[in-house]
Amino acid sequence: VKPYVYLTRKMPPAIVEKLERECRVSMWEKEEEPVPAEVLAREIEKADGIYCTVSDPIPRELIEKAARLKIISTMAVGYNNIDVDAAAEKNILVAHTPGVLTETTADLTFALLMAAARRLPEGIDTIRNDEWGAWVPFFLTGQDIHHSRLGIIGMGRIGEAVARRGTGFRMDIVYHNRSRKPEAERDIGARYVELDELLETSDFVCVTAPYTKETHHIIDKDALHKMKESAILVNSSRGGTVDEDALYDALKHGSIRGAGLDVFENEPIRSDHPLLSLPNVTALPHIGSASEKTRWKMAHMAADHLLQAFRGEEPDHVVVKPSS
Ligand code: GLV
Ligand code: GLV
Repeated sequence: VKPYVYLTRKMPPAIVEKLERECRVSMWEKEEEPVPAEVLAREIEKADGIYCTVSDPIPRELIEKAARLKIISTMAVGYNNIDVDAAAEKNILVAHTPGVLTETTADLTFALLMAAARRLPEGIDTIRNDEWGAWVPFFLTGQDIHHSRLGIIGMGRIGEAVARRGTGFRMDIVYHNRSRKPEAERDIGARYVELDELLETSDFVCVTAPYTKETHHIIDKDALHKMKESAILVNSSRGGTVDEDALYDALKHGSIRGAGLDVFENEPIRSDHPLLSLPNVTALPHIGSASEKTRWKMAHMAADHLLQAFRGEEPDHVVVKPSS
């Protein structure tokens, strides 16, 4: 019999049909609501493959219910929503979609940096609210991007791609990462610094690190205090890398200038989220990789990983290989 795949989101026909050629497929049909945990629990019990997204938590309790699950394939590069250790213990593969979204996510990260620096949301609101009056010399003056210092925390593929964009603006690029990146140093002219130096000297602090125990609240109260009063924080990684209460205080009291955020600790956030009450927050609904081309590539790649696993091949982008 064909393997059974459960999709946690409504996916377009091209993706479903691709899977249906080799699998039995069912999916969560409601576009506006994520799959409830109890539905996912039932499906995990009987599925051979799970096709999921960043917003589906797959903790140990769920993985332990799996009876025949061979692979969890997420349509994302980040896989902090999946307990990969629990998966490995049960010989379940976990696959993700790195590479295809790198440049698209770097574009969005840089857009966020620029929007926050030059106060684009406030400018847009000014016009929409009919508040554009006489020319005022220091109205909506922001921070320069060109020739400023860009500090990148997490020099993976995305961090490097952001850094490369910075070189076009003649930015001085420093980075902090678990390991040195000699190629980035050579090709981009990025300089490795300790985290404190990065925080203390950067005009833009950009978080592009994966979310792990080590990067949980890497931007906390202390880190925010070390940043320049004129500095802007940009986060396109995961909300959990930033302590949002501490960020609120820092922004409210002017200990940093602004923040551009594509990710939040508990997504989706609502309009009553404290950070949204601040004019110096530029907020986006987790759309880093959301270009049409890139989302199609990710969707196909996640489907291909399932098909590869069922054919007995090793999926191209596995984060956890079964131990045996
Ligand atoms: C999105 O956030 C991803 O990890 O791909
Ligand atoms: C993602 O692709 C990263 O490694 O930054």
